[in-house]
Amino acid sequence: MAPRKLVAGNWKMHGLSGDIAEIERIAAASRAYPQVDVALCIPATLIERAARAVPGFAVGGEDVHAAEKGAHTGCTSAPMLVDAGARLTIVGHSERRDAQRESDFEVSAKADAALGCGLAVILCVGEILEVREQGAALDTVLAQLDGSLPPQPVGAAELAVAYEPVWAIGTGKVPACDEIAEMHAAIRARLVERLGDSGERMRILYGGSVNGSNAAEIFTVPNVDGALVGGASLTASAFMPIVAAAAETARRA
Ligand code: PGA
Repeated sequence: MAPRKLVAGNWKMHGLSGDIAEIERIAAASRAYPQVDVALCIPATLIERAARAVPGFAVGGEDVHAAEKGAHTGCTSAPMLVDAGARLTIVGHSERRDAQRESDFEVSAKADAALGCGLAVILCVGEILEVREQGAALDTVLAQLDGSLPPQPVGAAELAVAYEPVWAIGTGKVPACDEIAEMHAAIRARLVERLGDSGERMRILYGGSVNGSNAAEIFTVPNVDGALVGGASLTASAFMPIVAAAAETARRA
């Protein structure tokens, strides 16, 4: 049986207290789609208020530090996220891999720290355009996955992998469905090799310019178990059609 679809928003560096009302709208509208798991990963400054405003809805962080506490100015630890009310966190987003020069090893340690505190993890991988043009996308992404998976065995409900081609993020460009299918099948095979049965059931999300117009088609691709959504997750009006498309795919399956 295919896993339940997960549609997760990534607000990045967007959101002030006035936007809690939008989170409330998204949480309320999501109740109409009980067959889909919906989550919003939001700036750390908003997590506590959001978690109080929408109890029962999955609010998460966008990143986490690998250490439990210590001299790490400006960082947020996994216990801090949990304390604020987060249930999950993204790790290894390409914007952090690029701007903060995060290595696979660091991403793996972050995932491990988050899981150790009971947070679910969305682990991002994805190639830059030059790599795809060189025909090296599969090898590159699988190597990234190998290096970024947490060192301990992990259950299917605790970790999702998000394939996000860097060149598709925020650009309006989306890979062809057969390119997504090829990559997701390769990621699935590697997850099964590494994690056995839980790799079979682990969700693999697609991310990069997902919107209400292209989501339905993307969700029909084999091994696409949901989406990680940036720009189109900022408002209920843009985000809910994606959730509705996931629900419709689940209904047809
Ligand atoms: P996008 O971002 O949907 O705005 O392309 C996706 C992401 O960065 O996770």
